[in-house]
Amino acid sequence: MSKVFRVGTIGVGYTCNVHAPGWKESPHAELAALADLNEEALNRVADRLEVKKRYTTARELIEDPEIDVVDICTPNMTHAPLAVAAFKAGKHVLCEKPLAPTPAEIRRMIKARDAAGKLLMTAQHMRYLGTARAMKAEIERGVLGRIYHARAWILRRCGVPLGPGFIRRELSGGGACIDIGVHILDLTLWLMGFPRPVTVSGFSRNELSKRPNAFSWGRQPIPESMDVEDFAGGFVRFEGGQTLMIEISWLLHHDTPGEVQRVWLYGTEGGAEWPANKLIADDLPTRQLIDRQLILHDGGAPHALECIDFARALAQGLPSPVPAEESLYVQAILDGIYRSAEQGREVKVNL
Ligand SMILES: NC(=O)c1ccc[n+]([C@@H]2O[C@H](COP(=O)([O-])OP(=O)(O)OC[C@H]3O[C@@H](n4cnc5c(N)ncnc54)[C@H](O)[C@@H]3O)[C@@H](O)[C@H]2O)c1
Repeated sequence: MSKVFRVGTIGVGYTCNVHAPGWKESPHAELAALADLNEEALNRVADRLEVKKRYTTARELIEDPEIDVVDICTPNMTHAPLAVAAFKAGKHVLCEKPLAPTPAEIRRMIKARDAAGKLLMTAQHMRYLGTARAMKAEIERGVLGRIYHARAWILRRCGVPLGPGFIRRELSGGGACIDIGVHILDLTLWLMGFPRPVTVSGFSRNELSKRPNAFSWGRQPIPESMDVEDFAGGFVRFEGGQTLMIEISWLLHHDTPGEVQRVWLYGTEGGAEWPANKLIADDLPTRQLIDRQLILHDGGAPHALECIDFARALAQGLPSPVPAEESLYVQAILDGIYRSAEQGREVKVNL
C-alpha cells in the first residue's frame, strides 16, 4: 500500500475550507493538523473538519515531525517565508496563489525547494476546471495549430475583497493584478504552452476605489487604507514572437454579473474562446467559415482536484503538477506590469 501523506494546513480561512474536501477524498493524503493565529477560528474550523492537532503558530505545525506536507493558505506576503521554513524542516509544500508577490521571493522558494529535494506546487485551481482541461486537451490535439496571439480578461464591476490581506500592499504585495490577474494569466500561459515572456507594457490604476463613498460587494465601504490598484493590464511579447493582451479589474464600469473570465486564443489553424470552448476556423479549399463546439467537460470541484493531484504526484514520484518555474513566469509578467505602469514605458521581463 502506498504511503499516506499527512497534511498540515496553515490558515483556516476560505482556501483551507475548499482544500479540505480534496485531502479527504485523496487516497494518498490525510488532513492531520491545522494552524492559525486566530484561536477561535482555528477551533471552529478544526471541530468542523474533525482535525485533532491544532497550533496557534505556523512554526509549531512546520516543526511537527508527523507532518509531511505543508498547505499554505495565509495572506500572500507570508507565502515565501512559510514555504522556505517548511522546506528547511523537510516538508513538501502546496502554496496558494500567488506563489509569492515578487519573482525574487519565488526564486528564493525554488532554491529552498531544491536544497530540500521536496515538491512545491502552486494552487492554481483554474487549471482544474473541467472546461480548462478540455480546452488544453483540444490544443494538445492541435486544433488551433500554432498559437500566436491571446487575449485574456478577468473583470469585476464591483468586487474588491475587503480583507486587509488583499487591499493593504504590505500584506498582499498588490491589488487586482496580483489577486485575480494571477489566475487568468496562469491559465492563459498554460493554454499557450508557457512561452518565455520578454517585454511588457502595462498600466495600473486606482481611480474608482479612491472616490469618496466608493463601495464594494454588498455596498460595503472601501477602507481608505486600501493602497493597491483596482484595475491593471498590459501587452506582453514572448520569445517566439507570440503576443498577449490582458485586462484585470476589481472595479470597472463594465457590464459583468459578478466576474467575467475570458481567454481568446488565436492560432494558425483556428481561434478558440474559453470557457465557452468554441472553435472559430475556416476551410480554405471550400472557402467555408467554421464554428464548432469543442469538448466541454464539466469537471469536479477544482480546489479539491488540485489537492488530489498533488497527493498523487507525491505518492507516484511525479513532478509537481504546477511547478514554481511556471509561477515565476506569471509573477515576472505581473511585476513587469507594475514596473511599466510606474515608468510609463515598455520594460523587460526579469526572469
Ligand atoms: N485559489 C483561490 O480560489 C483563492 C481564493 C481566495 C484566496 N486565495 C489565496 O489564498 C490565500 C489565503 O486567502 P484566504 O481567502 O483563504 O484568506 P482568509 O483571510 O480567509 O484566511 C487566512 C487565515 O490565515 C490566518 N493567518 C494569517 N497569517 C497567519 C500566519 N502567519 N500564521 C498562521 N495563520 C495566519 C488568518 O488568521 C486567517 O484565518 C491568499 O494568498 C489568497 O490570495 C486563493
